[in-house]
Amino acid sequence: MTSYDITLEWPNAKNQTVAVDARETVLEAAQRDGIRLPYDCRKGTCTACVGRVLEVEKTAPGDDESSAESVGDDDAVDIASAFDYHGLPEGLTERERADGYVLLCIAAPRADCRVEVGPMVRAGIGDSPWG
Ligand code: FES
Repeated sequence: MTSYDITLEWPNAKNQTVAVDARETVLEAAQRDGIRLPYDCRKGTCTACVGRVLEVEKTAPGDDESSAESVGDDDAVDIASAFDYHGLPEGLTERERADGYVLLCIAAPRADCRVEVGPMVRAGIGDSPWG
C-alpha cells in the first residue's frame, strides 16, 4: 500500500510527520495518529483546515535519489501534482492554490511534502465565501 510522509510544521517549530495512505486525506491520517489539526466542514468549503505546502519531495520512478523543491525556488513547485482532492476545494481561489495553500480535509498526497499548519496559515488567505 502506497503512503506518503507529510511533515506538519507548526509555528512553535514542533514538527510532526504522518504517513498518509494514498487513498486517505491528510486530516484522516492525522486524526488516526492522534494529531489535532483544525477542521470544521470536512468538505473543502470553510478553510479551517488549510495548510501551505513548503516543499515537495520529488522522486523519479525507479530512481532511489530524490530531490526537494521549495516554494519560491526558481523552478515552480508542482503543487498540483502533490495532492489529489476528494471533492472540490471551493474555499480556495485558484491563486491561493497556486501559492501552495491546500485544504487538508480533502487532500490526498501524491508525494512526500512539508506543510506549514496553524493559525498564521489560515490568516494568510481571505475569508471563504462558503463558510
Ligand atoms: S474543514 Fe472545512 S475546508 Fe477543510
